[in-house]
Amino acid sequence: MQDPLPPSRDEVDRAIRQAAALIRKASHAVVLSGAGISAESGIPIYRGATGIWTRQGEPTIDGWELFNTDPERWWRLAIDHGDTELSLAIARAMPNPAHIGLADLEQLGLIQHVITQNIDNLHQRAGTKHITEIHGNRLKVRCMNCGGRDRLGTISLDRMPPLCPECGGILKTDVVMFGEPIPEDALRESYRQAAIADLFLVIGTSAVVYPAADFPIIAKRRGAPLIEINPFETNLSEVADVIIRANAGEAVPAIVDILRR
Ligand code: APR
Repeated sequence: MQDPLPPSRDEVDRAIRQAAALIRKASHAVVLSGAGISAESGIPIYRGATGIWTRQGEPTIDGWELFNTDPERWWRLAIDHGDTELSLAIARAMPNPAHIGLADLEQLGLIQHVITQNIDNLHQRAGTKHITEIHGNRLKVRCMNCGGRDRLGTISLDRMPPLCPECGGILKTDVVMFGEPIPEDALRESYRQAAIADLFLVIGTSAVVYPAADFPIIAKRRGAPLIEINPFETNLSEVADVIIRANAGEAVPAIVDILRR
């Protein structure tokens, strides 16, 4: 099938203006971001021609089961073989103009919450305060018993598996493993945001992983307009009200420029 022609400059500019107008009108705008928003920070996306899962194959679905069977072995493997392409890219990455632009929009009171599927902590480093990390955060650990989260650097790795400083429970990476249920607190907040949003921006996600891909649909079904920022078509394109076929690092700052006027 022939790839669709790239949009003209005028089409992209018109979509950016339409998106800015919808954001200005909204009172509770929510963002769902995916790997694409961090692509311009040098972090590989997962799917598509250049995707890390495309090149290396998706991780097996039994990650969570393997961890539960032998958490000590999991931790030793994670420490000994931690330098993967993804972890090295995340370690080097800096927030890009898209992350910074979303933090600016939050500062201006124009977006109220970011739900991210990314584990790279770049939204927080850019300054976003109201955020839910639906797939966890690579720089944090989470207690299997009390659910408490700590920064990875603050816990002792002398003992394997590491234990929660609060309750002594076994700690795991905060990153949601394949086969692991989404943490209750993140799930509850994401559905709450989907239930109150009057505008949803979907930025840099193929929208193929659930429940994340559900949140914009729930809002859309309630009448919230949907803005998609993605250089390529996705599962959500056919229901999007405004489609900005551009890189997030170009589109988000352009929207901020209009809304700052
Ligand atoms: N700006 C905006 N979007 C971009 C850019 C860019 N510069 N570059 C790529 N994209 C888009 C791609 O077109 C694609 O639609 O980002 C999307 C990335 O899709 P995926 O690689 O599937 O990443 P994501 O949607 O975040 O995956 C969801 O799958 O494996 C799990 O846990 C993993 O959180 C991840 C989840």
